[in-house]
Amino acid sequence: MGRSGGPGRVFMGEYRHALDDKGRLTLPSRLREGLGQPFVATRGFENCIFLYPLPEWEALEARIRALPFNQANARAFARIFFAGAAECRPDGQGRVLLPPSLREYAKIARDTVVLGVSSRVEVWAGAAVMMQAHLPVMVDEVVQWLQPRAGGLFVDATVGFGGHAAAVLEASGPDGRLIGIDQDPVALSAAAERLQPFGERVQLLHGNFADLSELLAGARPNGILFDVGVSSVQLDTPERGFSYREDGPLDMRMDTTQTRTAADLVNGLPEAELARIIAEYGEERWAKRIANFVVNRRPVKSTAHLVSIIRAAVPGRGPDHPARRTFQALRIAVNGELEALESGLRAAAAALAPGGRLVAISFHSLEDRIVKNFFRTLDGAHVLTKKPVRPSAAEEAANRRSRSARLRALEVC
Ligand SMILES: C[S@@+](CC[C@H](N)C(=O)[O-])C[C@H]1O[C@@H](n2cnc3c(N)ncnc32)[C@H](O)[C@@H]1O
Repeated sequence: MGRSGGPGRVFMGEYRHALDDKGRLTLPSRLREGLGQPFVATRGFENCIFLYPLPEWEALEARIRALPFNQANARAFARIFFAGAAECRPDGQGRVLLPPSLREYAKIARDTVVLGVSSRVEVWAGAAVMMQAHLPVMVDEVVQWLQPRAGGLFVDATVGFGGHAAAVLEASGPDGRLIGIDQDPVALSAAAERLQPFGERVQLLHGNFADLSELLAGARPNGILFDVGVSSVQLDTPERGFSYREDGPLDMRMDTTQTRTAADLVNGLPEAELARIIAEYGEERWAKRIANFVVNRRPVKSTAHLVSIIRAAVPGRGPDHPARRTFQALRIAVNGELEALESGLRAAAAALAPGGRLVAISFHSLEDRIVKNFFRTLDGAHVLTKKPVRPSAAEEAANRRSRSARLRALEVC
């Protein structure tokens, strides 16, 4: 990180830390050395805290001072940076007490993510940084079809990072309640942080929505939401093993307390069974050949190793990444996604109070087919969406992942 406190240094890396009981943050030593003593903390964009070495801050100050005073955005910019700024000094053990006003601004309760970002360090609330990474899809449409209202009880069966849940809680204020379920403990703790402002109105449960009846323990919700599949955060965290773009372990478990991983399937299944999974869940025309290449190259050690085997097996080059379908298939198999969806929808329809609504968002044809068939064959309910509802053009442009989303809704009698 170089000499302490000078301009021109480059901060890098991502670190997770919890504040101690006195609200102090322990800065990683590499970042602390680069920031020097004292350093300046101030309000950053997107509700995080920016930390600057003093010389870097002075250079920034000079640049902001030179901005035209008669322009409103220049004045606003100056206000953001200067009004909240404070000098900070870590103690002998590297702990620093960030001003309470800044912690409040960044909504930091306990868990933080500290990022080295070029000339500055950023401190984020743990959940906020994940929320930046996962944009919930079709939020307005979810509210429109689920119809959350005051006094109601709503279930988000895939609470993830709490984006839809927050919208449902806002729309059902002041006293609507929400039960949020997720099988991923990491997502659930991010949701807990995000939904903290709603207090007692929220109950979060770790579990699989296939077990919805047991999880709801007799509760009769007025609306239940499924936003199925993986979140962008799960996909983009290489250590979770979902991504074919980065190297990681062959894991792919959404529920990290589950024992079976992708490695067990890739290295343990008979060739014919592996081919079936890749063909059925990945709709991959080269499934047999991929399974044969995999079996002959075992043990497969990592996601990058698997990708290289798939590349060797798949002839020619299509518009898609050659490993996309195989990764989707393995993920579906590891997590038993399709069976869980069927059971979850059935349990949801049975649990709903009279007049209650079921809203399901799916991301590929296998999921959408299950939702469509279930809706079509369910007695005592009427389907509200004759065709699946798609995201607006604006949303599709802003969030690539939303492009494959399909929403269906029904109401029970
Ligand atoms: C697309 S994300 C949901 C994002 C969420 N709607 C939001 O606004 O942040 C899907 C989430 O569902 C969870 N999930 C998928 N299948 C599940 C299942 N069978 N039971 C419980 N949670 C599941 C995943 O762990 C993931 O966090």
